[in-house]
Amino acid sequence: MTTIDISTPLPELQEYLREREWLNSQEKITSVEKPGEGNMNVVLRVVTDQRSFILKQSRPYVQKYPEIEAPVERIAVEKNFYQAVRDNAVNAHIPNILGYDSAENLLFLEDLGLCEDLVSIYRQRAIPARELDRLIFILGLIHRKNVKDDFPDNLEMRQLNHQHIFVLPFLDDNGLDLDDVQPGLQKLSVPFKTDVALKSVVDRIGKKYLSPGTILLHGDYYPGSWMTEADNLYVIDPEFAFPGFAEFDLGVMAAHLIMATGKKRYLSQIHDRYQGEADKKLMSQVAGIEIIRRLIGLAQLPLERDIDEKRKLLKKARRLIMG
Ligand SMILES: Nc1ncnc2c1ncn2[C@@H]1O[C@H](COP(=O)(O)OP(=O)(O)OP(=O)(O)O)[C@@H](O)[C@H]1O
Ligand SMILES: [Mg+2]
Repeated sequence: MTTIDISTPLPELQEYLREREWLNSQEKITSVEKPGEGNMNVVLRVVTDQRSFILKQSRPYVQKYPEIEAPVERIAVEKNFYQAVRDNAVNAHIPNILGYDSAENLLFLEDLGLCEDLVSIYRQRAIPARELDRLIFILGLIHRKNVKDDFPDNLEMRQLNHQHIFVLPFLDDNGLDLDDVQPGLQKLSVPFKTDVALKSVVDRIGKKYLSPGTILLHGDYYPGSWMTEADNLYVIDPEFAFPGFAEFDLGVMAAHLIMATGKKRYLSQIHDRYQGEADKKLMSQVAGIEIIRRLIGLAQLPLERDIDEKRKLLKKARRLIMG
């Protein structure tokens, strides 16, 4: 078995791609570039004299933080997800799979072009109504896919995420000094690390996240996974997908719209527009937990807000959880 590291020099990459017949015999790589921001995996745009495409390779660790282990099978989850959701309605909103090499943990994807992710909504403090409608619609389509027992449980990725969503942000001594993120943030975080009633709700929902479910989730349905290119909207990066409960994706989505806009009404709007069954209270609790973990946990967002704005968001989050 030849082992290819896709950040290898171009002649070797070209040779590997030709061996696999992912390049035709005349085709030459002209350059390789980074298509956008990412931490977990190696993602490259390969430009040839005929076209461009994307290569995504997982490693047994987080690419940006190699000391953190991460399950290498996440790339297979991503491939499974794209295959499971593909149909006429979803097709226009996900990249085509052009190839997959399981031995090399490598996915060969259609280049969606010069996209921008919707992380810009934190700065704009708003989301265009059309994008919101389409995001709710696409999520409903994903959730209605019948995957039964044939989808990977992705348990190791969930365990990793579980630590970062439900455990570490609520630990008194988690090794993160929040004043390094923003002065005053450490003090704001204390009431969330000492509140027994709140923590018991967080524990309960954390256990639910780790339990098997029946609905195919994207698993990371937030602005970093939403891309726009001209008039097109794409959903990418489903490496946290698993069969779970719909309110997880819905709550996470609502959390990010509430953080971007400061408006809690997005929770009801998403709930009302969503074409499927969803428990609004559970959705609300997931949303509250996601807001808290993004503000006082390790996985910080490019969310430029002063301390008073963060205090208000945390207060909203508490209400979303405790009612
Ligand atoms: N098919 C594609 N077409 C065009 N650009 C893409 C495509 N796939 C990924 N990108 C770009 O590359 C970036 C990184 O991709 P992706 O989010 O899949 O990687 P990741 O390593 O899983 O990132 P993260 O650490 O955020 O989980 C994306 O934000 C996007 O800008
Ligand atoms: Mg990712």
